Amino acid sequence: MFFYISFLRPPATQSSPSGSISITPQVANDLRTEPFDSAQEIYYSWSPVNPARAEPYPSITTPQKLTVWRQSSAYKEIPVPLPPGLRDGQSYRLVLTAHGQGRPHIINLAAHDLGERPFPVLSMPVLFSSRERAARAGEKQEQIERVYRVPLQAGENGFLTVREQTSFDLDKKIWDSGIGLSSWLVQLAQEPVQASEHAEVSRARDALFSSEARKIIELGAGTGIVSLTLGALRSVSSKDEAGCILTTDLESAMPLLEHNVSANASLFKTTSTRPRPLVLDWDVEELPEEVRAVDSCFDAIVMADVTYNTASFPSLVRTLASLVRLSPPSKPPVIILGYKERDADERTLWDMFKGAGVLFEQVGERKGAGGQTVEIWIGRIEASN
Ligand SMILES: C[S@@+](CC[C@H](N)C(=O)[O-])C[C@H]1O[C@@H](n2cnc3c(N)ncnc32)[C@H](O)[C@@H]1O
Repeated sequence: MFFYISFLRPPATQSSPSGSISITPQVANDLRTEPFDSAQEIYYSWSPVNPARAEPYPSITTPQKLTVWRQSSAYKEIPVPLPPGLRDGQSYRLVLTAHGQGRPHIINLAAHDLGERPFPVLSMPVLFSSRERAARAGEKQEQIERVYRVPLQAGENGFLTVREQTSFDLDKKIWDSGIGLSSWLVQLAQEPVQASEHAEVSRARDALFSSEARKIIELGAGTGIVSLTLGALRSVSSKDEAGCILTTDLESAMPLLEHNVSANASLFKTTSTRPRPLVLDWDVEELPEEVRAVDSCFDAIVMADVTYNTASFPSLVRTLASLVRLSPPSKPPVIILGYKERDADERTLWDMFKGAGVLFEQVGERKGAGGQTVEIWIGRIEASN
């Protein structure tokens, strides 16, 4: 499992340049139900908004130790020194990280030790202004961002900025399986083909990363991290305009999903590699027209952490079966699932998938800080279907 630094009490949206900022950091799991169980050093730095030199990722001031986070003092308010050389009218983001070396505010999806330490966080901009606008005074922030490094090719990296809501909405924050599956996809795109490679892994590589046109759909995309990673990775090799990456979820997820696609637009080199947000509700029997209108069939169906609610399994399985039926039996889609067990009952989904003619096999995992791992599963269609 992974741990996340976030703000139990975030900074205000506006503050006086001669005033002070105080926050309460939090270190917990994705659900925010399990606090980190040991002491964790927290460093702070500031990231200027509109820096003089444009970088592909946010620049930060030298990280300084802020506090040692412990469960016993989890509610303590911590004052944060203001940015060095701060001038009236400037805006900065507050950055909290688990260490102070290198680029501690960037999550490297290719790191072999991904998630062994809690993930860093960036606040939204704090405007330091002496002309305080009454309406914004003391207003608390409701969003955060995290930045992910996606190695693209020799020496070149893409940096994805993914915005999350601090409210407890399933579709507006990042989940372990989304990060774990994205990390596995980065490895799949980078690693040379192994002679001993699992046949289904080879099929997944071709379905996702061939330079030829590929049609990919994600179910329950949330903030979109998996589709965004795929779009950046496919942009390296794909020049085609015939493919697509449909990133789907409920209507409520669309504003944040659309924002995250637009905010990372420079990483997507063609319209076919730019993820296309679309409402696809598993509870609606008929697939949306835009999905049915996709010329020919899908090469890959991807999903991360769509298994938390056993009551939704019948509609999820039905949606998957409808998508599979769009393909001729000779060209079935590869189905890829990122999963972390929360309740053993969730494993009944595998039997339901089997009943629908889809057999799942585990092909990878991401361990993070211990506890439940993120498992990567690939589903193949039984020959008779
Ligand atoms: C736990 S979140 C995972 C989000 C993202 N895949 C990730 O791993 O960060 C589950 C997602 O499934 C979506 N979802 C739940 N029920 C759904 C339904 N009936 N139709 C479509 N999406 C649904 C939620 O809106 C949410 O975004």
